[in-house]
Amino acid sequence: MTEFKIINLPECESSNSLLKERRGTFGPFTILRCLKQTQGRGRWGRKWFSKEDKGLTFSILFPIHKNDDYIYYPMAVAYSVVKTFSELDIESEFLWPNDVYVKGKKICGILNESVTRGSESFLVSGIGVNINLDKEDFPEPIKNTSISLKMILGEETAPEFFFKKFINQLYSLIDENTALPAVLNFLKRNSLLKKGEKVKVRVRDREIEGVFEEITENFRLKIITDHGEEEFFDGEVLRIENSSD
Ligand code: BTN
Repeated sequence: MTEFKIINLPECESSNSLLKERRGTFGPFTILRCLKQTQGRGRWGRKWFSKEDKGLTFSILFPIHKNDDYIYYPMAVAYSVVKTFSELDIESEFLWPNDVYVKGKKICGILNESVTRGSESFLVSGIGVNINLDKEDFPEPIKNTSISLKMILGEETAPEFFFKKFINQLYSLIDENTALPAVLNFLKRNSLLKKGEKVKVRVRDREIEGVFEEITENFRLKIITDHGEEEFFDGEVLRIENSSD
């Protein structure tokens, strides 16, 4: 049975940064939750916006033993988030590579970062969930594209409640040794992107337009462009509205 260790801190700059820095002290399978983050980070150098008591922010330190672990753990985290929402009777969707959406708006962001020193490799998976934020709490640029549990349920939920449910989902997935294809198929079934929809993929300084085909067996995004098939192992997907026109 995998032993997870949970550490709660009142405040930190970023649970991902702290877990990466102190991975030697904390050890594998540590879950570090910070009630308040002063410099929460998102993907592509963005900030992660949250508010004490209104958001849930934590990170998990996964040891990497084989290449598949790099895709298994990020998928296991996304899977557990979607499952946790479904336990609360909320239908959520997974947006490749690691966001979770409800009603077309982002409710959870995941930041996966790897660290290798010598023969040891780790993956730090940081999860931010909008629990009790009100629409006015979100900064202007993401106000209309973000949602929280409170905005869906019309009432507050203790962040701790969501956290415990999530942890139980993750524990059972890892302890039951649920195979990678099963986790992948679950995410494919719950994908926000539907086959045939027009998308734009941003990868560093490139922007490529195409039609979403599938999430492949090795967790890549496959799109069809004017020049043929392209696969991405990372990137940001922007959905292009009215793709059926
Ligand atoms: C994204 O949507 O771009 C990813 C957001 C990830 C935010 C979480 S909150 C806990 C952990 N610590 C951080 O600094 N970031 C991640």
